[in-house]
Amino acid sequence: QGCKLVGCGSAVPALQISNDDLSKIVDTNDEWISVRTGIRRRHVLSGGDSLETLAAEAARKALEMAKVEPDDIDLILMCTSTPEDLFGSAPQIQKQLGCTKNPLSYDITAACSGFLLGLISAACHVRGGGFRNVLVVGADALSRHVDWTDRGTCILFGDAAGAVLVQACDSEEDGFFGFDLHSDGSGQRHLNAGIKEKVSNNALDSNGSVRGFPPKQSSYSNIQMNGKEVFRFAVRCVPQTIESSLEKAGLPASSIDWLLLHQANQRIIDAVANRLEVPSERVISNLANYGNTSAASIPLALDEAVRSGKVKAGQTIAAAGFGAGLTWGSAIVRW
Ligand code: ACO
Repeated sequence: QGCKLVGCGSAVPALQISNDDLSKIVDTNDEWISVRTGIRRRHVLSGGDSLETLAAEAARKALEMAKVEPDDIDLILMCTSTPEDLFGSAPQIQKQLGCTKNPLSYDITAACSGFLLGLISAACHVRGGGFRNVLVVGADALSRHVDWTDRGTCILFGDAAGAVLVQACDSEEDGFFGFDLHSDGSGQRHLNAGIKEKVSNNALDSNGSVRGFPPKQSSYSNIQMNGKEVFRFAVRCVPQTIESSLEKAGLPASSIDWLLLHQANQRIIDAVANRLEVPSERVISNLANYGNTSAASIPLALDEAVRSGKVKAGQTIAAAGFGAGLTWGSAIVRW
């Protein structure tokens, strides 16, 4: 059983925030942000905007491109680290799309690697049998988890949703050539948004009463990041994972038509492309307009590149995600 990509879609919130807008709330400026990151503006959820609704909009566009009806979806994977329901957002996407046959839908949490993991999981579900049309949505609203007084992080992120449809096909048409995934929990200290109150000991104390119970209502801290360490990690691990995926696919780096990395920082993208000797004309980048949109960044950039005619049917894409966890991975796929 093979599988292939048959549609993509994306959606961003209406509110756009420029670097100049940010310079009014933190001590920063357009030059610093553009030179260090390549980011010029980002979209941010506002008012009553819903990430689930944005995700459903991106999904609907992917279905339209694929000419697949909501009732033909067998599985929805919602890749997000910022769900609107702690128990999972995927069933709400299923509901908003109007799927009446109750397909399985569940969330995948792997920060900026979430979409890559979802894509590979979709391929495994199809290859394992039983699933024909798998919708993979990457959507995040990091604006809700950033400290808007911290100039080191708030300038980086934007909100968005992107989606692809992975469909079963004959093995001769298979469009998934090789993949590679990793995590390293010891790097969590460099990038996290952890729970604030941890109840460490619920044991009985010497008087027989229960210590630390009932637990306090917990909340999560804003994003904590050591930018330099994350930068180093990305520049080291992303070329390695792409080389590993290429090796598993039995393909040389010269077979890559498009390099499509998680859109975190233009300097990271350039460094990885350099390391892999992929010329800049074959690198997809749109973070100037959206910032780092976490799990949405790869399908958002893919969707723009496909709809603008840049990426054409039959071309080979090396996609790689990296981020909190730490997590990272790559896949070589055909569009
Ligand atoms: N505006 C102006 N000055 C700033 C800003 C800002 N927004 N932020 C930091 N500075 C200052 C610092 O205070 C520092 O000043 P000092 O020299 O007087 O101490 C100086 O600029 C340099 O700061 P650095 O942090 O050393 O700057 P660096 O070149 O490392 O760039 C950046 C920072 C852009 C965050 C970079 O490290 C980076 O992109 N790292 C990767 C981050 C990333 O990709 N994170 C997302 C991962 S994906 C995920 O899972 C969420």
